[in-house]
Amino acid sequence: MNPSRVVAYSILAVFSVMQLGLIPTMAEGETTVFGAVGEQVILPCIDKFQNEGVTWKYNDLVVIQYQKQLLRGRTPFFNRSELNKQEMSKGNFSLILSQLRHSDAGKYVCGVGSRTFMVQLQVFEVTSSPSGYLLQHEKLMLTIQGPSSAIVTWYDNRENKVTATQSRELKNGGHSLQIHNLRAEDSGTWMCHITSLSAKLDIPYKVLVIGFHHLNQETLYKAVNSTVSFSYSLSTDLQKIRELEYITGLEWKPMADNEYLEKFNFSVTSKELPLFKQIANMQFTWKLSNHLEVKLPKVQFKDAGWYQCQITVSRGRVEKAIHLVVMTVSADPVEPLSKWANVTLLCKLSVPVPHNAQLFWEHVNGTEKELNMLGCNEVMVKTKTVGLWRCSLKVENNVMTSIDYTVVKAAERNSCVWSWAGVGAGIVLLLLASLCTYIYITQQQRRQRAEKIARARRDLLERRTCQCQRQLKNDYSDA
Ligand SMILES: *[C@@H]1O[C@H](CO)[C@@H](O)[C@H](O)[C@H]1NC(C)=O
Ligand SMILES: *[C@@H]1O[C@H](CO)[C@@H](O)[C@H](O)[C@H]1NC(C)=O
Ligand SMILES: *[C@@H]1O[C@H](CO)[C@@H](O)[C@H](O)[C@H]1NC(C)=O
Ligand SMILES: *[C@@H]1O[C@H](CO)[C@@H](O)[C@H](O)[C@H]1NC(C)=O
Ligand SMILES: *[C@@H]1O[C@H](CO)[C@@H](O)[C@H](O)[C@H]1NC(C)=O
Ligand SMILES: *[C@@H]1O[C@H](CO)[C@@H](O)[C@H](O)[C@H]1NC(C)=O
Repeated sequence: MNPSRVVAYSILAVFSVMQLGLIPTMAEGETTVFGAVGEQVILPCIDKFQNEGVTWKYNDLVVIQYQKQLLRGRTPFFNRSELNKQEMSKGNFSLILSQLRHSDAGKYVCGVGSRTFMVQLQVFEVTSSPSGYLLQHEKLMLTIQGPSSAIVTWYDNRENKVTATQSRELKNGGHSLQIHNLRAEDSGTWMCHITSLSAKLDIPYKVLVIGFHHLNQETLYKAVNSTVSFSYSLSTDLQKIRELEYITGLEWKPMADNEYLEKFNFSVTSKELPLFKQIANMQFTWKLSNHLEVKLPKVQFKDAGWYQCQITVSRGRVEKAIHLVVMTVSADPVEPLSKWANVTLLCKLSVPVPHNAQLFWEHVNGTEKELNMLGCNEVMVKTKTVGLWRCSLKVENNVMTSIDYTVVKAAERNSCVWSWAGVGAGIVLLLLASLCTYIYITQQQRRQRAEKIARARRDLLERRTCQCQRQLKNDYSDA
């Protein structure tokens, strides 16, 4: 041992003896300790050269004393104060106070042998308004209760230091934090960090916001006859907040209407878990008790609209709506296309085509393309071109959905047969006609020839008579 220290101790001892231990000796500095309401705190008192006994006092009242045996004073700390015997044998006389209260704050004095140590206890608490669980879009005020001299810093549930923003406001020199427009994503443990020159403390605060994740407007573009799946993700595990009585449900609002129609509802009490019935052709699944999925197979044009899921609790109601846009195509006529006919292909969307989108028909691998007119909800193409046509909806260069339609030519082999039949019939007709003509001509010729012969005969007869007459004449003349 250091001789100067020995001297010091001897002097102290002499002084203590002189004072007969009745007057408290000079305190050896003061330590500040921060504690949180409801938690445990350790008030340090260490003197490595002592292992005999200790007396802890609060406002001159003995809290706890250990001199061969343990004694407790009649204080509010009666069953909340403790000493660690093992540590005491090593000269560590620290006081363990549990279930701290605000009223526990103050000056504690630890007396070990002739020495005293002073501990200043400051007690803090994070309070919230409103208390308990919160609903999406509500606001929350967190306040640190305790000495105002401490410096307070807040950290969010992602361990980022909170700074003043549009939705976060720091008040009373940072001792209060107001969170506006709470989101499901704000659920989690926030931290209040308290510091002073000599002490520091972190107090966690659990924020529970009931609501839906991804609240931003969500639009699903679907082709008619396809399957649509609506997904609602809750911020909280419903089973964990079973003590709440709440009702949830799904409503549907058609495009043309302003009124929501109930598709189904169900109530969850502390005794039972949600029980689903299949309504119409809808299929419900409940995953991990905070994720609701609704499937609608073979979606039809009339199914377009808003699908809103809501949770109703005594405090109010939170909801999330998903917008379903349906696309369909039709052709007129639907029959195979005969050679010189046109077909009209119509592609329709359940809402006017958004400004950042385009609805168009195109001939796959061809050049023909028809775009929608601004503000229209349909696009029409009149064509003779057979083959595969496709109507697509492109939103900001992403094809959201498309439907194919094949324009078929009226069966070609049949028309070929018919045309050959036509040609055949023509030939037969032609042959018949030429036969008739031939017959007519030959008959005509025969008649002409017969007439000629008849005429010739007549001529011959006439000539004979003439000759005869001439002969007679001649005979006469000759005679
Ligand atoms: C202390 O005693 C009170 C009643 O006197 C009791 O309510 C409390 O739970 C006790 N605390 C501990 C930590 O035992
Ligand atoms: C003194 O004892 C307490 C428990 O009684 C313990 O938490 C603390 O760490 C100890 N201090 C030292 C310096 O050993
Ligand atoms: C949707 O399915 C029905 C029946 O299965 C069918 O008649 C109709 O043509 C289909 N619509 C489209 C656009 O494919
Ligand atoms: C749920 O449905 C039942 C029966 O149709 C109805 O009486 C009740 O009001 C509905 N609950 C809500 C919150 O809409
Ligand atoms: C086919 O469409 C073209 C151009 O629109 C039109 O001139 C023609 O008359 C149409 N033909 C028939 C048979 O409808
Ligand atoms: C379009 O062209 C691609 C590649 O050239 C080919 O694989 C596809 O079958 C064609 N589609 C049609 C409908 O002709």
